[in-house]
Amino acid sequence: MVGASDGGTRPATAARIYDYYLGGTHNFPADREAAEAMMRVLPLGPQLARTNRAFLGRAVRYLAESGVRQFLDIGSGIPTVGNVHEIVQRVAPDARVVYVDIDPVAVAESLDLLKDNRLATAITGDLREPAAILTHPQVTELLDFDEPIGLLLAAVLHFVPDDDVAYRAVDQLRAALAPGSHLVASHATTDDVRHDQGDLDVAHDIYQHRTETPLGLRSRSRFERFFTGLDLVEPGLVWLPLWRPAPDDPQYFTDDPRRSAGLAAVGRVPRR
Ligand SMILES: C[S@@+](CC[C@H](N)C(=O)[O-])C[C@H]1O[C@@H](n2cnc3c(N)ncnc32)[C@H](O)[C@@H]1O
Repeated sequence: MVGASDGGTRPATAARIYDYYLGGTHNFPADREAAEAMMRVLPLGPQLARTNRAFLGRAVRYLAESGVRQFLDIGSGIPTVGNVHEIVQRVAPDARVVYVDIDPVAVAESLDLLKDNRLATAITGDLREPAAILTHPQVTELLDFDEPIGLLLAAVLHFVPDDDVAYRAVDQLRAALAPGSHLVASHATTDDVRHDQGDLDVAHDIYQHRTETPLGLRSRSRFERFFTGLDLVEPGLVWLPLWRPAPDDPQYFTDDPRRSAGLAAVGRVPRR
């Protein structure tokens, strides 16, 4: 585990809080304190993280099995169990992946893991500045925008709370995609919430005050707007555990999927 001597003064980040939830070791004291503070009000945090991670795994396996060979994963996080390149390159060894994250620790750890993988790389980038991502030399070198791409925005859009900024960014990214591309996204939601509002407010405050990425939950209809004009892949926009569940998934929230507090969907870019 990363200790105080190599990060004791760093503020917490969403990437490293998530890493802690997933049982990873790339987190600093401030991340662990923020995660523990949140778990005091929302003890299901680690289960939510694992449920989201499992959805991402199922979605990218589905895309790879459907023939998608290129992936742009924005808000990719710190490498952990079930990394996108591992899943898709198991299905198609020629699949290419570019990871993008705002957190330099996430990017450094990804690059370290990928040093022997010439078909995958990681860059620092901000979802709110899509043009810089789309024109980044490593993106244009590895990905061919004339061919289908899997655009992955898993558990990241709720760190872009401003609707105008978020919709504009996703529109710009989508405009660059060829027909047959897919948007994969998951999102923490305010809808049908099974958690106490006061507890959610505490979680909001922690991201607001201890990290540089404030949290902004969206309703189902506001999440759905990211998919306008796309063909939703079955079963459509659903609670995280309900998107094509697999037997080897963590079996959390199966009795009441709404308690996952997360929505997920995969949309396909139709022919023009
Ligand atoms: C909860 S993690 C999700 C990781 C991974 N996508 C997954 O679903 O397993 C959210 C990630 O989004 C990143 N992030 C937050 N805001 C971002 C932004 N504006 N641009 C790029 N990455 C961002 C965080 O650093 C973090 O690594």
